[in-house]
Amino acid sequence: MSKILITSALPYINGVPHLGHMVGCLLPSDIYARYMRLMGNEVLYICGTDEHGTTSEVGALKENMPVQDYCDKYHERHKNTYAAFDLSFDYFGRTSSPQNQEITYHIFEQLDKNGFISESTVRQVYSIDDKMFLADRYITGTCPHCGYDKARGDQCENCTKVLEPTELINARSTISGSNNLEVRETKHLFLNLPKIEDKLVEWLKTKEAFWPDVAYSIAKKWVKEGLQPRCITRDLKWGFQVNKPGYEDKVFYVWFDAPIGYIGITKQWSDEKPQERDWKAWWLDAKDVRYVEFMGKDNVPYHSITFPATLLGTGENWTKVDYLKGMSYLTFAGGKFSKSEHRGIFAEDAVKEFPADYWRYWLMANAPEASDSSFTFENFVNTINKDLNGVLGNFAQRVMKMTASKIGSFVPEGGELQKVDYDLINTLKTRVADYFKYMDEMEFRKATNELRAIWVEGNNYISSTEPWMVIKEDQKRAETILRICLNLVRIYAVLSAPIMPQTAEKMLSKFNLQMKDMPSLKGFDVAKEINALPVGTAFEAGEALFERITPEQMQELQQKYGG
Ligand code: 2FM
Ligand code: ZN
Repeated sequence: MSKILITSALPYINGVPHLGHMVGCLLPSDIYARYMRLMGNEVLYICGTDEHGTTSEVGALKENMPVQDYCDKYHERHKNTYAAFDLSFDYFGRTSSPQNQEITYHIFEQLDKNGFISESTVRQVYSIDDKMFLADRYITGTCPHCGYDKARGDQCENCTKVLEPTELINARSTISGSNNLEVRETKHLFLNLPKIEDKLVEWLKTKEAFWPDVAYSIAKKWVKEGLQPRCITRDLKWGFQVNKPGYEDKVFYVWFDAPIGYIGITKQWSDEKPQERDWKAWWLDAKDVRYVEFMGKDNVPYHSITFPATLLGTGENWTKVDYLKGMSYLTFAGGKFSKSEHRGIFAEDAVKEFPADYWRYWLMANAPEASDSSFTFENFVNTINKDLNGVLGNFAQRVMKMTASKIGSFVPEGGELQKVDYDLINTLKTRVADYFKYMDEMEFRKATNELRAIWVEGNNYISSTEPWMVIKEDQKRAETILRICLNLVRIYAVLSAPIMPQTAEKMLSKFNLQMKDMPSLKGFDVAKEINALPVGTAFEAGEALFERITPEQMQELQQKYGG
């Protein structure tokens, strides 16, 4: 058994998540966590809301409420949405917690003590109309590197280059649109990345063989272009007040305390339930922990460079990322999701329309991994009707109904296996091995396609063995075939559990089994599992696993969410 620490990038508190957010890190990390638990590992899966920064101040202002209340409100909303999507976090916390403040202060003090914090007077953009210094994200302009005209002051989402807001051409305030901006001088603290560079490069080298190419090359490119000191303080009210004399009127930059939030959130939980977790066993001088981080590709520089450098600079032995899974983007019919324009379906609404598993399955079958992918209702409806209804649902229902009507509602005894049965077992062995391989490699799209192929094998098997014909001449053989098929239903439940937990539960319940009765996936042996249901086990076909989505429903969806 290994200890696996899994974090999903912490969603910004403001705004509500759409399907792109779900597939960008939250859902794949959940599937990996569930899979790793079923493989018998000790998993710690952490996430939470990223609460600091101007975005929250502006959001609270718009809703005319104190920032703390605003964050409380949206934290609950995020939490409920992810629960409805069946995300199995061990803890979903908040970056604004006192625990995160304590660890942020400690890390900052260590960095300062070790000489990795520098001071500098910077010229920062002040919006005269908004009466405030503008956070980098709140300045929009043209990227000096690629010419993209909606680049944000902290990063260009087109070319992923991290920017300083004063580099933007034709800068304007994102809050008011005003270009009545001036640059004022203000003193700030910096993480001296050039000074940590040697340590960082040495550490990065140990990752080359293990990180996915995309992540490693982004990190390498960053180093090659030359690391610059990163400003880690801001002239704002909402955030952790800087714990250094002379800087009391400033707060830490949201990107400084956000990744530390993974640690802070683990401690938040430890403090609430000390009997369950010791946060240090995962984060500080931790033994045998493998740390896997999930994020959108725009987050890669922060998690491959800035955050590891922050931890390295403390001189302490903090757990650093072992594997970084960066996802590409999901578009809505090729364009952007937009709440205000009612374009694209948001996670809260999605689970009101259909069970979470419909979304989980579609999103993983179309995960934006090698490249971006696009959501359309047409594709969604086709996939649900074809794969879930037509393949998995149909198989389970057909097998149970047929057995119930021809033999009885229990697992029949039957007889010895024949060649065609052994062929099925061998094919499934290969496919299951591939499915696990893709899951281990975090190739979720390929894994989901393999899972579907495993379901298809069941349909092929029943079509070619024709138990409904065989039973007329050879009752015992028909019983064998149906016994195998019933066991396949249970096998499908177990294998589908990481991606579709509710469906797995539903399938198991037909045999009066529960999730806790599932075998470990480690050492999963198809030849053994195909005989796992004791002869005589009662089952109840009950209602279908999925419902077909009609063309009328699809039209309605398009009208409601099509923009
Ligand atoms: O990009 C984002 O949504 C950020 N809120 C991610 C932060 S991840 C972590 F480092 F906190
Ligand atoms: Zn750019």
